[in-house]
Amino acid sequence: MPTVSHVLDRVLVLEMVRVTEAAAIAASTLTGRGDEKAADHAAVEAMREALNHLYMDGTVVIGEGERDEAPMLFIGEKVGAAQGSGPKIDIALDPLEGTTICAKAGPNALAVLAVAEQGGLLNAPDVYMDKIAVGPGYPDNIIDLAKSPTENVKALAAAKGVQPHEIIACVLDRPRHEKLIAELRGVGCGVVLIGDGDVAGVIATTNPETTIDIYMGQGGAPEGVLACAALRCVGGQFKGRLVFRNDDERARAAKWGIEDLDKIYDLTDLAKGDCIFAATGVTDGSLLQGVKRFATKMTTESVVMRAKSGTVRWVKGEHRTA
Ligand code: FBP
Repeated sequence: MPTVSHVLDRVLVLEMVRVTEAAAIAASTLTGRGDEKAADHAAVEAMREALNHLYMDGTVVIGEGERDEAPMLFIGEKVGAAQGSGPKIDIALDPLEGTTICAKAGPNALAVLAVAEQGGLLNAPDVYMDKIAVGPGYPDNIIDLAKSPTENVKALAAAKGVQPHEIIACVLDRPRHEKLIAELRGVGCGVVLIGDGDVAGVIATTNPETTIDIYMGQGGAPEGVLACAALRCVGGQFKGRLVFRNDDERARAAKWGIEDLDKIYDLTDLAKGDCIFAATGVTDGSLLQGVKRFATKMTTESVVMRAKSGTVRWVKGEHRTA
């Protein structure tokens, strides 16, 4: 039987693009239709079907929700064509990251998938996470969730050799971030406000063309794990801390075996060992172009990367429709 490493390396890397392509194409049929649920449902069904063609004994560790609230791709669902015989792979997925973006035809909706060897991805509960992230090339621990936004910006600016007012931060546009945004602007930072989609927001820090230096703020914890899988492949730093708003959320954490509720998570706490990250654009964005439809074909743009080798592959797909 092939080893897990061989399967990750030679089999799954490119196969994963088929999976995110399928989800992106399905969601794209509903782009701009104002129906978040329908777009998400289409992406989920397509991703599930594509995953079930892969040679693996896969388990969804980050998915559409818990078994009783998600009919498909729920946490713990087994996927893959080699149940019991294939390599055991853990899967974190978001068939449509940015459901509202897709419904409104905004930028940066993605179909996203990360896989790792069993135990490689944190079983993150569906709660918020305080996040801070930067791209590669900085001294270790340049960002610190225990420090204020101002201190983080100043440290980053010093490491980059610029003034704090030359730093650009990306933040989700939410009322809960009012104080954060005011503090960042108070230091002179440019703040790029995004409506949704913080997986793309975190990844944007790794691409100088976006001009985004740092990502800050509260977003979904599952999205944090997906973003970390990507950063493990291309470099960068990430710190996260789960945010519990009530006892129900704390109970959810206990269910997933999380004991230290105040823990500050590092990149490798969220995605460790070898892992692969794949994404396909649903709508145009800073990372990828979205699905385009022509008379006889559709085009897709995807990226797939692997932590162990650091290989990043950009895949342009043409899919005949007639
Ligand atoms: P969905 O695709 O599940 O709608 O998530 C979009 C998103 O913007 C994430 O990228 C982000 O982590 C989270 O929602 C933020 O949550 P909220 O919209 O509650 O602020």
